[in-house]
Amino acid sequence: MAGGILAETLPAQALQFAYLIAGILFIQGLRDMTHPRTATRGNMISSAGMFLAVVVTVLWFEILSPVILGAGLLVGGAVGGYLAVSVETTEMPQLVGLFNGFGGGASAVVAGAELIDVLASGGSLGVGLTSTAAIAGIIGSVTFSGSLVAAGKLHGVVGESPFEATTGHVVKAVFLAVAVLAGLALVVQPSLFGSMPMAEWVPTYWVVVAAALLLGVFLVISIGGADMPVVIALLNSYSGLAAATTGFVLDNTVLIVAGTLVGASGMILTVIMCDSMNRSLTNVLFGGLGTDDGDGADMEDIYEGQITETSPEEVTMLLETAERVVIVPGYGMAVAQAQHAVAELVDLLDENGVDVEFGIHPVAGRMPGHMNALLAEADVSYEKMRELEEVNPTFNQTDLVIVTGANDVVNPRANEDDDSPIAGMPILNVEQARHVVVNKRSLSPGFSGIANPLFARDNTSMLFGDAKQSMQDLVNEYKESTS
Ligand code: TAP
Repeated sequence: MAGGILAETLPAQALQFAYLIAGILFIQGLRDMTHPRTATRGNMISSAGMFLAVVVTVLWFEILSPVILGAGLLVGGAVGGYLAVSVETTEMPQLVGLFNGFGGGASAVVAGAELIDVLASGGSLGVGLTSTAAIAGIIGSVTFSGSLVAAGKLHGVVGESPFEATTGHVVKAVFLAVAVLAGLALVVQPSLFGSMPMAEWVPTYWVVVAAALLLGVFLVISIGGADMPVVIALLNSYSGLAAATTGFVLDNTVLIVAGTLVGASGMILTVIMCDSMNRSLTNVLFGGLGTDDGDGADMEDIYEGQITETSPEEVTMLLETAERVVIVPGYGMAVAQAQHAVAELVDLLDENGVDVEFGIHPVAGRMPGHMNALLAEADVSYEKMRELEEVNPTFNQTDLVIVTGANDVVNPRANEDDDSPIAGMPILNVEQARHVVVNKRSLSPGFSGIANPLFARDNTSMLFGDAKQSMQDLVNEYKESTS
């Protein structure tokens, strides 16, 4: 690769020094992202690191003409900026999925381009180069097609697998075998048939890519739509691994550092999500939760004659006498965008001397930190957000729990029914409070598709309605009663 403007004017160490600074910025950014209060700053710091890495790389190596590069950065930046501001928070997992996919796809294409470039400049394809390229090709391509399918499933535009389970496994095994064998061929061919022109080996790389693309599609299409957030976290990890491997192909330190950080953090996130649902990764990848119709029949048995309906007026009466209130938000709060009304209610309770906190389950909603992000957007103080381990011991001293748009994360079947799909998942034990009000639109199940006996408990009443409207009604009633 020819030297660019920076390579001609600066000493050789300057490039590695800039990469070192970028690496430090990535690590500091990730550190800040571990707490909601510093997460925005962490994002900015990591973005600055990436900006530095990109600018230094394009100015150091004369990769393409500055006009083409500038146009690419401008168009890419504009599309990314537009998506970031226009996409709804509930659609964020799809967007992250798409970003992962493009990262993986880019790694696969760059690794292939490097093979062509080395040959074009008269170099030879050593085992180090071909093996890392084959690995980048497989992981990057699986990430690309798998992420597109995952995003499509979350968006409701991709359906179920056309194959039944066993056939699906055979299909996946065949594409995996083709990808691995073609990858091995790419590595051994030059040394086995050294007399043949190198250029003839390169198409083998695209066989690796094609087989891995199909493998990615069939790996993800058979997983239940409800498990897509975990799949997206896993593919995020893969996109990092693909980038790190491409870093070895290109001998580029910053790509290796950034890719490794993404790979490791994506894997940690995947494990945290699986632990919070008390499920193994194998169960998520091959278990198919959320693909069946749930247990509609036994729902009627559980709810028959047991449901107590309540109204904003009645809930306000409970609020008037309560000394401690815990609000448990879930996916429905995100769908209804009820966080501002909820925050207003909390402010009013605060003003009236009520001890009020949020109980936040680690997998409430559809992405990690979903509830924290929404509540922070509504200016709720972080001191009010209690994690599962902190809030659970306090429910037996709580007068009223208001569950808004949550279902699975407060389902006692996780503790009581070993056969339920959520068995063993740690839940918020809200039923231990004196009164529980559950706000949702109907008795429909949540993500796991199962009935929730909490709704039928003696101390539970149902406040049916859209979360935003219901919370606003509560705000109005409570204002009136306390004015
Ligand atoms: P869910 O169990 O999915 O329940 C959400 C409830 O919200 C539904 O029962 C729905 O009932 C209600 N709802 C929907 N729209 C509403 C609206 N406009 N107003 C009021 N209510 C509305 O949600 P959860 O309790 O947050 O649990 C999350 C689930 O997702 C868990 O099972 C978890 O394992 C899974 N999951 C989470 C993640 C992450 S990282 N968060 C990742 C993978 C899986 P109605 O239709 O009756 O209103």
